[in-house]
Amino acid sequence: MERDIESVLVTKEKLQECVAELGTRITQDYTGKKLLVLGILKGSVPFMSDLIRKIKIPIFYDFMVVSSYGFSAESSGVVRILKDLERNVEDVHILIVEDIIDTGLTLKYLKGNLLTRNPLSVKIVTLLDKPYRRKTEVTPDYKGFLIPDEFVVGYGLDYNEHYRNLPYIGILKREVYENR
Ligand code: IMP
Ligand code: MG
Repeated sequence: MERDIESVLVTKEKLQECVAELGTRITQDYTGKKLLVLGILKGSVPFMSDLIRKIKIPIFYDFMVVSSYGFSAESSGVVRILKDLERNVEDVHILIVEDIIDTGLTLKYLKGNLLTRNPLSVKIVTLLDKPYRRKTEVTPDYKGFLIPDEFVVGYGLDYNEHYRNLPYIGILKREVYENR
């Protein structure tokens, strides 16, 4: 697994520092509000798991599974909901937790979909922001790291379902996903 990594982009120490800061800001911004933290499976799991423990107010959490058609290293923009929320959201503020925003198509669709359900608000926290290939306007309300235009894995991010359990964010060697 490690030998497929070109270089470490964000160490596990930096990840923890960043998550703690995000948790503090979210705690301040949502104090006194009813908050539903909504993880997008599967990539957000390590990030969300660390983040919720840095949020020092009562929260609810839930997950959605969305899937875009197409190749695993490219996003197609066609989004399907494979697992939906378990509750009505009219009385909560929703905070979507994503691993990375690339084209923005997944979150654009998801935010629009959630807004039709009339929650009190919908905001986005993303660990990584890769703005170079944005195809639609979607701005995260909270972000961890702005990263270069590289394919990254680890801390939840995958290539063909592999590498999610690396404790850091690494740049995947091109030879792993090219010429296949
Ligand atoms: P978007 O719809 O293009 O913003 O795509 C978001 C999704 O694409 C993420 O949730 C990831 O699953 C995947 N993705 C985009 N860039 C990367 C990357 O560098 N590594 C791993 N997955 C990525
Ligand atoms: Mg993904």
